[in-house]
Amino acid sequence: MQRLLIVDDEQSMRELLEHVLAREGYHVETAENGRVALERMKEYAFDLVISDIQMPDMTGIELLEQVRATSPETVVIMITAFATVDTARQAFKLGAEDFIIKDSGFDVDELKVLVRKAIEKTQLRQRVELLQKELTRRSSFDNIIGRSAKMQALFRIIETVAPTHSTVLITGESGTGKELVARALHSHGPRSNLSFVSVNCGAFAETLLESELFGYMKGAFTGAATNKKGLFEAASGGTIFLDEIGEMSPAMQVKLLRVLQERVIRRVGGTEEIPVDVRVIAATNRNLEDEVAKGAFRQDLFYRISVIPVELPPLRERAEDIPDLVDHFLEKLAKASGRPRLTCSPEALRHLESYDWPGNVRELENTIERAHAFESTSMVEPERLPQRILHYSPRDAAAVSIPEGGIDLESFLAELEKSYLREALSRTNFNQTRSAELLRMPVRSFRHLMTKYRLRDR
Ligand SMILES: Nc1ncnc2c1ncn2[C@@H]1O[C@H](COP(=O)(O)OP(=O)(O)OP(=O)(O)O)[C@@H](O)[C@H]1O
Ligand SMILES: [Mg+2]
Repeated sequence: MQRLLIVDDEQSMRELLEHVLAREGYHVETAENGRVALERMKEYAFDLVISDIQMPDMTGIELLEQVRATSPETVVIMITAFATVDTARQAFKLGAEDFIIKDSGFDVDELKVLVRKAIEKTQLRQRVELLQKELTRRSSFDNIIGRSAKMQALFRIIETVAPTHSTVLITGESGTGKELVARALHSHGPRSNLSFVSVNCGAFAETLLESELFGYMKGAFTGAATNKKGLFEAASGGTIFLDEIGEMSPAMQVKLLRVLQERVIRRVGGTEEIPVDVRVIAATNRNLEDEVAKGAFRQDLFYRISVIPVELPPLRERAEDIPDLVDHFLEKLAKASGRPRLTCSPEALRHLESYDWPGNVRELENTIERAHAFESTSMVEPERLPQRILHYSPRDAAAVSIPEGGIDLESFLAELEKSYLREALSRTNFNQTRSAELLRMPVRSFRHLMTKYRLRDR
């Protein structure tokens, strides 16, 4: 039921409006001045306020200003006995929805229509807002969640690129959603009714990958008992997703380059050149430019596949997506398990939002799945989260790094200690007592360490 507040210092007017509008089915309250109205609005959310302009204490215009500031969703209609163009203009400027003139010919029917229209208008506005929110949340790409600016920008790219036939290279850390994006590109593209074939190039030994991709002829190698189509042929007309392309051996890179240039394949052990019409989407969690610089990835192939580069941001750079992702996974789990949908406690969410997610969305999904499995109440509480997330402290993680070849912690710490001693000595002009103070240790311990590290005066 819509809630109306009528503000007028004239009792007869309040009663008339209340009577007419309550009969229209609204919940109607009244206030005899602006102050009482504002007091009431602190506790109660009104959809519409009808206020007189001329009132002692606070004028209707002042009230209008306050309402706009504290409750921008509430619609305000002004009533006045003597409408002057100026006050009307001022009221509209301040955001009044409409104007009622209470002269001798005050028309009750006109009032009803005016109120109904104003309310319909707000309802419409609210619906549009909800729909817009829903659109942003759902992001128009079915199951890819992301309200963050980075993800929204990515959706725009997908929308633009999907309808073309161009080759796309998707990069991003492990678990950021590269495969999901590849599928979205396919399903929003011109080949969506044909197959999407996904190959993990890192999962096959070199020769196996070749026969997997291009197929083979009977007798091409031991075990090739029949002729067999490869995945390029299977994907014919559709899309082939070459995942982990950075893992491809140099020899395979040459073969793939040839396929991309000439749009034909040759089966292992075969001589015939078979034309293939396939859209190629590749993905990698390596930095292919670095691999090219190192000589591990062919530059010509890199140029071929990275016609359109799409980069997926790591989850730690879009923490604002975490609540939606958590909801999304809880929803999915509830559907799959047939159990009621859990909610995430604000406390647990806080931990999830401040963690740095090296495994990105996949790690988050696994975390939620685990919590869902072990949670016996209807709320995911922090106790259901792994220790590494509960006790995560960004400072520790930022300061420490272990180099490739490992680290000799003991001598590293000794060096560090020595540097602190030296720094303290030079800061205090070689005063041992003050140096010990700076490092908050007894002078005797300080002297002991000086001997240990053979630090002498100056
Ligand atoms: N934005 C997202 N919205 C919803 N689910 C997501 C999102 N991103 C990733 N996921 C989910 O996270 C999991 C990992 O995603 P995906 O397999 O696409 O990552 P990836 O980048 O290919 O990882 P890897 O490099 O390890 O292969 C999947 O279950 C996927 O559905
Ligand atoms: Mg993947």
